[in-house]
Amino acid sequence: MNGNDGSKMKDSKWVRDFEKSNDKLVLRFLKANGVRYLFGFLFFAAVNLLQVVTPRLTGDIIDELYKQNPDLSLIAKFAIVIFALSIVIMGLQFLGRLTVLGAGTLFDVLMRRKLFRKLLTLSMNFFHKKSIGDIMALSVNDLNAVNRAIGHGAMMVSNTIILAVVSIVAMGETMSYKLTLMIFIPLPLLVFTMYKFGMVINRKFRKVQDRFGELSGKVQENIAGIRVVKSFVREESEQKSFEKVNRANYDAEVEMALVNGLFMPLISFISSFCYLILIYFGGRSVIVDQSISIGDFVAATSYITLLIRPMQMLGRLLGMVQRGKASMGRIYDLFEEKPDIVDHKFNQNDVDIKDNKLKGKIEFKKLNFAYNEKNGDVLKDINLVINPGETVAFMGTVGSGKSTVSNLLIRLFDTPERGQLLIDDMDIADIPLKTLRGNIGYIPQDNFLFSDTIRYNIGFSPDEMNDEQIEEAAKTSDIYDTIMDLPDQWETMLGEKGVNLSGGQKQRMCIARAVAKNAPIMIFDDCLSAVDMETESRILKSLKDVQSKRTCIIIAHRISTVKDSDKIVVLHKGRVAEVGTHEELLEKQGYYYKSYRIQLLEQQYGVGLKDAKGEKK
Ligand SMILES: Nc1ncnc2c1ncn2[C@@H]1O[C@H](COP(=O)(O)OP(=O)(O)OP(=O)(O)O)[C@@H](O)[C@H]1O
Ligand SMILES: [Mg+2]
Repeated sequence: MNGNDGSKMKDSKWVRDFEKSNDKLVLRFLKANGVRYLFGFLFFAAVNLLQVVTPRLTGDIIDELYKQNPDLSLIAKFAIVIFALSIVIMGLQFLGRLTVLGAGTLFDVLMRRKLFRKLLTLSMNFFHKKSIGDIMALSVNDLNAVNRAIGHGAMMVSNTIILAVVSIVAMGETMSYKLTLMIFIPLPLLVFTMYKFGMVINRKFRKVQDRFGELSGKVQENIAGIRVVKSFVREESEQKSFEKVNRANYDAEVEMALVNGLFMPLISFISSFCYLILIYFGGRSVIVDQSISIGDFVAATSYITLLIRPMQMLGRLLGMVQRGKASMGRIYDLFEEKPDIVDHKFNQNDVDIKDNKLKGKIEFKKLNFAYNEKNGDVLKDINLVINPGETVAFMGTVGSGKSTVSNLLIRLFDTPERGQLLIDDMDIADIPLKTLRGNIGYIPQDNFLFSDTIRYNIGFSPDEMNDEQIEEAAKTSDIYDTIMDLPDQWETMLGEKGVNLSGGQKQRMCIARAVAKNAPIMIFDDCLSAVDMETESRILKSLKDVQSKRTCIIIAHRISTVKDSDKIVVLHKGRVAEVGTHEELLEKQGYYYKSYRIQLLEQQYGVGLKDAKGEKK
């Protein structure tokens, strides 16, 4: 039921090794695909060898033409051979490209898989500091740059080397090796220019990619928040702030284009010195010492084009490799990110949890918690015991720390030695993460659902789930009838490509997802706020069965949601302000009592009175 299509890729040993390593990835890949690259190399070698034959034939044709009685049939033969050659070259080129460019694509697939896996291991803190757009840029644009270097780049390496060797030999044989060597006098200048430019290209390209990340971040955010943008009539000002980012990106691109624009012509310019040397000294050889024929001279000028090409290609190649390197650097930065919430290795074996099932006792011991030191403590000195099977409700004003309690229970954040949070009398950090989270059914406050089918969304659990379990969960959450009314029922697509559910329907889908998981601990973070009172009471009734067996933490603002709980905890500015049953808290006449009075009046007289949810009155 859990969609695991797409993971059908056969993994050979090197792929598994590649998956595990985090350094020298390009080198590892090239090594593992050595045979593939060798074949590519051979195809291109053949292409280049054959390419050199053509100028040689042209030279021979010219010499034939200069004869007293040129043989026309011989020239026709030459033409046929040149034509046949071009067909063979085309075929070999195709095979070479397929082999080497295919390797680039394979690298892409493997890296994207690695990136995705890495992203899923990272903790919340990472996602708070990095924008989605930036992460997207990394897995699209940066990987593309690396792919180009490793595919096109590799193709150019073999082309460059072979072409250089072949044309040097051919030239040396046609004229003299002395003249051929002379042609290379400008080479050191060429290498120096490439080296200098290479460093600049690397730096500039990194900047381009960084800026592009910001740009995609901006676009992503505006599309995600399109409703807010429209309703606040912010289109124009958002456009303006987009322009700023777009401009910064443009500036970076222009800088890069300047470097690139200067680089290639400069390489061509330096290479043209080679041409000058040949024309002068080659011409001399024809006229003065007559050591070569005119045909040889013409062939040599064709060779030199062949020879200048690899030099120019080397320039392009270097640019490509530098861009790939810059992007790979950005990718490595991500690989170096360490998740801060991890299993404590030294404790993992000490914890003996039968069948990985927790009983569901939760205990807060003098717990203090801060998201960051600057903003101070969000939870202060919390002491509370929740026994297995109990239902405990958390109430309190906005920002009083209710969701923080659930964040800590699923260990999205750690509580470093400032009090303790125990589950089944074990420090939460000592319970293997998989076990801990596998034992908690969590309904987040933001009702997040995936753009997939309803069946996929409700069955979204670490364990395989059958249809009955999914249906049962849907019934408990009072969403079954809604699903049955949809034309595609369980196969209905949600989200971007499918139907959009109402806020209340979404909440119930999220409840169904958590209920289906059948975990001993349930956390409902404000997840009944968007359903009407009647539906709420229906859901609560069917949840009773769920609740009586499990430890339930219900975060809510409505008295009707929390009044039957075994214990109600009122948080105020991170502290436990009141704790007790419904009756006990009414007697106390504090926050709970006030909320009760307001909500009671609201029910009696309809709307008009301020909801208890809101800042402290
Ligand atoms: N990821 C975070 N990083 C830093 N501060 C945070 C983070 N999440 C919440 N806070 C802060 O912690 C405090 C408690 O937030 P929390 O989400 O627990 O409130 P809440 O009681 O659930 O409120 P609400 O009723 O609005 O859901 C708030 O002051 C909030 O600004
Ligand atoms: Mg909250």
